[in-house]
Amino acid sequence: MTSTPPPADRFPVVGIVGAGQLARMMIQAAIPLGIEVRVLAEHSGDSAALVSPHVEIGSPNDADALRNFASRCDVVTLDHELVNLDALVAIEAAGGVVRPGATTLRFAKDKLYQRSTFQRAGLPVPDFVDAPDLDAVEAFSVRHGWPVVAKSQTGGYDGRGMWVLGDLDEARALFASVADSDVALMIEQFVPIERELAVLVARRPGGEFVTYPVVETVQRDGICHEVIAPAPVSEEIAARARDLGERIAALTGAAGIIATELFLVGDELLINEVATRPHNSGHFSIDGCATSQFANHLRAVLDWPLGSTDLLAPVVVMANLLGEDRASMGPRMRLALLAAAPGVHPHLYGKDARPGRKIGHVNALGEDIEETRARAALAAARLTGRSV
Ligand SMILES: Nc1ncnc2c1ncn2[C@@H]1O[C@H](COP(=O)(O)OP(=O)(O)OP(=O)(O)O)[C@@H](O)[C@H]1O
Ligand SMILES: [Mg+2]
Repeated sequence: MTSTPPPADRFPVVGIVGAGQLARMMIQAAIPLGIEVRVLAEHSGDSAALVSPHVEIGSPNDADALRNFASRCDVVTLDHELVNLDALVAIEAAGGVVRPGATTLRFAKDKLYQRSTFQRAGLPVPDFVDAPDLDAVEAFSVRHGWPVVAKSQTGGYDGRGMWVLGDLDEARALFASVADSDVALMIEQFVPIERELAVLVARRPGGEFVTYPVVETVQRDGICHEVIAPAPVSEEIAARARDLGERIAALTGAAGIIATELFLVGDELLINEVATRPHNSGHFSIDGCATSQFANHLRAVLDWPLGSTDLLAPVVVMANLLGEDRASMGPRMRLALLAAAPGVHPHLYGKDARPGRKIGHVNALGEDIEETRARAALAAARLTGRSV
């Protein structure tokens, strides 16, 4: 791998570490751009491995596998952040191009580092502390009262690695349950959230960026169910949210998509966390924007000009398809039922429908928020076998 551009007579090769649904949707976006994608998959049945002609099997924690993989790519990017950071640093030191780079990825891998750095930069974050032991939780609760929120400093996703603690007994039980693991905890104030917002920025290595419309994300049990674009908030709040997302993109030195999750409390915006890659809150852009987050991610990591983020309809709603316990028929078979709920764009990830697992999403474009939400929700219910 070299840091010079590939010769003009061949397509650039983007390597994706990890083969989940984000990699799958990057492949889909790469096709019309003439970009060749390789994926480093843990298993041949992974979502992106199923649709990629260039799959290597290997662990994202294996330094040798990463180095060999990188040697066959012009640029390496990521499907998730559960990767060996030291190995990426070594690839960069040897002249390889990893985007986002290790400095940016550290924000995504380590929530305590992320929070501390944002706070030092004067950005608004919920109050938090490192919680190496129960004493730290008790001291924090004296200042903030109960409940408090405990989070794993690394590795959490979809609400796994986050616990709402009602009192010291619950905190004690949590500490006991992680005592034998290498989970390090942090504690933060429980925020009385009114809405959750997200803002996506696509940034080129030199700093040029485009910003997507601010969206509302609707979560249940720590997992995103629905995204509404544009977020039904005032232009003043949307402008502040965009500004925070853009400041974070610059502060983290992002390359590619960076997503910032925000809590709206009254008039105040607090930064929850960032993802330094395409994000669930941006799936609406596949059908709903002039350029999808996946296309702009690829363009940004290749340092190509970025595409317009304009919405293609007054309202775009994304509804996640979450695996159901009792679905006797999988979503692939249920696809035909969409005929009964027309007017949505289905996206299936080729994953088995385990309970609570994200197995796909639908996008709906419309004129009216409630009508569009209802259309997306009906289609999602039909595809997952929920009663409506
Ligand atoms: N301090 C808090 N106060 C109240 N609710 C919170 C707090 N932190 C998180 N939550 C709720 O839990 C959800 C998941 O939290 P968070 O985004 O930190 O976890 P995650 O598992 O990393 O999620 P993701 O799937 O986005 O990676 C948030 O979207 C929000 O609904
Ligand atoms: Mg989150």
